[in-house]
Amino acid sequence: MGPRALYTLLLLPCLLGPHVRSEEPPEGGEEHKDHPPGPGHHHWSYTDIAEWGTDFPDCGGMAQSPINVDTKNTTFDPQLTPIQLSGYDLAASETLKLENNKHTVVLKLPDSLKIVGGLPHIYQAAQLHFHWGSESSPGSEHTVNGRRFPGEIHVVHYNTEYKSIDKAIKQPGGLAVLAAFIEEGPEDNPEYQHLLEHLEAVTDGGQSVEIPGFDIRGLLPQQLDRYFRYNGSLTTPPCFQTVNWTIFNQTILLSAKQVAVLEDTIHFDHDHLLQMNFRDPQPLNGRRVFSSFRGPVGGRKAAGAAPHPTVSSPESDVSSAHDPEPGGHSQEDPPLGTGDMLAIIFAILFTFTAVSFYAYVRRTRKTNQRSSDSKSNVIYKAATAEENMA
Ligand SMILES: *[C@@H]1O[C@H](CO)[C@@H](O)[C@H](O)[C@H]1NC(C)=O
Ligand SMILES: *[C@@H]1O[C@H](CO)[C@@H](O)[C@H](O)[C@H]1NC(C)=O
Ligand SMILES: [Zn+2]
Repeated sequence: MGPRALYTLLLLPCLLGPHVRSEEPPEGGEEHKDHPPGPGHHHWSYTDIAEWGTDFPDCGGMAQSPINVDTKNTTFDPQLTPIQLSGYDLAASETLKLENNKHTVVLKLPDSLKIVGGLPHIYQAAQLHFHWGSESSPGSEHTVNGRRFPGEIHVVHYNTEYKSIDKAIKQPGGLAVLAAFIEEGPEDNPEYQHLLEHLEAVTDGGQSVEIPGFDIRGLLPQQLDRYFRYNGSLTTPPCFQTVNWTIFNQTILLSAKQVAVLEDTIHFDHDHLLQMNFRDPQPLNGRRVFSSFRGPVGGRKAAGAAPHPTVSSPESDVSSAHDPEPGGHSQEDPPLGTGDMLAIIFAILFTFTAVSFYAYVRRTRKTNQRSSDSKSNVIYKAATAEENMA
């Protein structure tokens, strides 16, 4: 069918994306120096990702993170209500510890910061940290339709049903991480400046500094109602499979200069810059990814008839709202993208052809006075094909 073929064409650049980028080897050289041992009391680094599973068996598990979010295979879940935060707006009088732990830069957060909506439990914050690339390649952990973004923020929370993060980290549903992608935009991001201006103080591995509190909410995207949700793991050893992931659909914009500060300031050892501190997407192994929204940003409302194709990029057409899978198909109130418009146009053309053909057959029958089972079969088939296109 025409629309299917066009869909495939629109998808093609996205499908080709991952192969171009995932080949880059992590830079940053070796990391064999001592650092505070993790819960497994073993060392690890981004240069020996393939060996993580030896010391940390969970890293070889079946529900690992990050993943690639294939938007056409996500399932809309109306129960995924907006993420609601509380206590995120910290006073400048409250100081926070910013630390270079040789894997990332971590901002410790007081547990007064909480997620109070959009998850099955109340979760309190522990820390936030970043993943990034280099000047020449992007460094997010999650990818969307094979696309990797310049950076990614993770705000780590733990389930308040557990006494400490150390207990929660090993329990199913024990952790909730809010993730968002960092992209390059035209302007400085003033919220991120609260943090970036202190990176210079923690350039060396193991260094830390106390920084004044600010509105942590400002480090996340504005829209907290549009996100992807799946069950996964810590993306670093010990890789425990206890994380309830939220990946926001809206990205965060930093100026090119700010992105460069994130990429070019943190060292893990002497002269070695810490760059490309991300893990590649892991197999889904049958896990499902849900979305809290349908359709592209801006959430167009579509009544039954939408006379004009609305402006929309090919990328925004690859959305859960246009789920071509049977079962994931819903008839009521779908937002219309270019693909839908094409489908409708084809459907109209098809119906027109079918009706003309039917009229022709009727006429022919009357003229010939001959019953024709084969011809009514043709008409029946036409109707089915049309259904499939919608
Ligand atoms: C995550 O796992 C829990 C427990 O098995 C399950 O109830 C929940 O539906 C899963 N959530 C997602 C997003 O798959
Ligand atoms: C946001 O969602 C739209 C629609 O599914 C998708 O096309 C786009 O790639 C998504 N972007 C991110 C960063 O999740
Ligand atoms: Zn992380």
